[in-house]
Amino acid sequence: MASLTMPTLSSNLAYSSSIAHFISLAKPAHPNRKTGPKFTCNSTKGDQNSSDHDTAGSKNGETSLLKLDRRNVLLGIGGGLYGASTFGGNPSAFAAPLSPTFTACHDATDPDSKEIDCCPPSATAADITDFVPTAPSVIATRPAAQLVDSTYLKKYKTAIEKMRNLSSDDPRSFTAQANVHCAYCNGGYYQDGYADSQLLLDVHNSWLFFPFHRWYLYFFEKICQNMVDDDTFALPFWNWDNPPGMFLPTIFNDSSSPLYDSLRNPSHLSTVLDLSYEGTDSTDSTITVIKNNLYLMYKQMVTQSTTPLSFFGKTFRAGETSDPGAGSIETSPHSNVHRWTGDPNESHGEDMGSFYSAGRDPVFYCHHANVDRMWSLWNSLGGQNFTDSDWLNSSFYFYNEQAKPVKVYVKDCLDTSVLGYTYQTVDIPWLNSKPSPRRTAIELPTAPTPSQVFPTTLEKTITVLVKRPKKKRTKKEKQRAEEVLEISGIQYNIGEFVKFDVYINEDTPDESGPEKTELVGSFINVPHGHSMISTTTKTFAISEVLQELGADEFESVLVTLVPKSSTVTISGVKIKYDSTKVSA
Ligand code: C2O
Repeated sequence: MASLTMPTLSSNLAYSSSIAHFISLAKPAHPNRKTGPKFTCNSTKGDQNSSDHDTAGSKNGETSLLKLDRRNVLLGIGGGLYGASTFGGNPSAFAAPLSPTFTACHDATDPDSKEIDCCPPSATAADITDFVPTAPSVIATRPAAQLVDSTYLKKYKTAIEKMRNLSSDDPRSFTAQANVHCAYCNGGYYQDGYADSQLLLDVHNSWLFFPFHRWYLYFFEKICQNMVDDDTFALPFWNWDNPPGMFLPTIFNDSSSPLYDSLRNPSHLSTVLDLSYEGTDSTDSTITVIKNNLYLMYKQMVTQSTTPLSFFGKTFRAGETSDPGAGSIETSPHSNVHRWTGDPNESHGEDMGSFYSAGRDPVFYCHHANVDRMWSLWNSLGGQNFTDSDWLNSSFYFYNEQAKPVKVYVKDCLDTSVLGYTYQTVDIPWLNSKPSPRRTAIELPTAPTPSQVFPTTLEKTITVLVKRPKKKRTKKEKQRAEEVLEISGIQYNIGEFVKFDVYINEDTPDESGPEKTELVGSFINVPHGHSMISTTTKTFAISEVLQELGADEFESVLVTLVPKSSTVTISGVKIKYDSTKVSA
């Protein structure tokens, strides 16, 4: 993964040698393989690169908080700078890790603004213990769902059946586990310290996405192990990034099985999974959909994941409003798979297509196991976790396999081998699916500039010419900061499915399909919370894209936005730099 581990961003040589490096990492299915560097909080002031001033998401104060200390990276400490005391004058400089008001859970709201009770059994502060995982005696291997045998399947079904049979006031019951997702996504908790101002804590569309779901699955899996009295049991992963896994795993499609859920799209039970699904079935052949899925995976895991901000999502600190912005994988394919699986005949795509109900479908946990696997793969490919202490010290609460409430921290879930699990090794064909440009070094048409167009409602395709802060950056500058396209002030209804596509240097978007570099990605919202307008930001990494398009020294970038569903309004489009980039 050239853009993550090699100084040369896009030469084929660097690309293939880094893949060779990755493959050598991935090959031995060694159960104790660490998935990423372990970080400690480091408050040393780093050598801030003043020339590439990071303005990505500066509303959250990332400008100074996330500068990377290159010397630490070179030393393999994986450092990065953070220390509240280092940032005098910055309001975000005070420690502000997030934590939910777990002991004061209140009714959540569904997309129709109906109140729903998804709260776990109530707990008092005295009941709760901090949970820190310690080196486990057994490493359980999560298998690809399409590869499991009948012995495994029997055990899995037994575990889920037993959970289904527990009374819903038992926090280990399937119903209570499904409700965990509802409470954390549809407004069951306020942010600790901000209950008076009713600031909600939503675990989606921010840097909390990966760690929350990792912990959620951890306890779900522990409960399964407990049900079958086998600590080698591990959840299956929906291997949607690999052609044999690009369909609803058959183990979930037996109506007599506890793994079955009737609220799924009836026409998707045996058709190929479209990772770019936006509500209408593709007319492409199965083989084309599969190829396009692989191109999408490459874009999301490599091109669009060159920095912690781009991979995990935007920073989210106590006192800020929810949904600051999703990372690459959370956007696609994570959201598309939710949408593709849920039943379009239900009012909000229940179960998988809406967050309050998603956990009611057993395939949810299989889907999220693969999302979690993407985090592990990204670390194996050289992706470095945030070192920001507000991320590391953010916390969640769950009920464990003994039905006891526990508090856990982001910093304790960074290494899956410490959590006691790993993933079965399977092919990763998208590593060889790099998209290619339709055209290079094109003459950019004159187009309105963002200031002439925004704010606007995205009702039809819009093309704007966006000026770059610098038209030529040195190799060093490129290594230190990713060039990003930022679409800001995206106002959308969080209760609706929303999608628009984004193209670079392409004014006839129909000409550039998923296999082309020009289509850089999408903005997507899966319905969560009740109907209400929220504002967010979406960024796309474009350093590699511009290089591929032969536009690396152009003064401007042509940006085309194509609406695909419910309308949104947008307040601006800008080119910025994200210096959370890690490059050794
Ligand atoms: Cu919490 Cu896939 O969502």
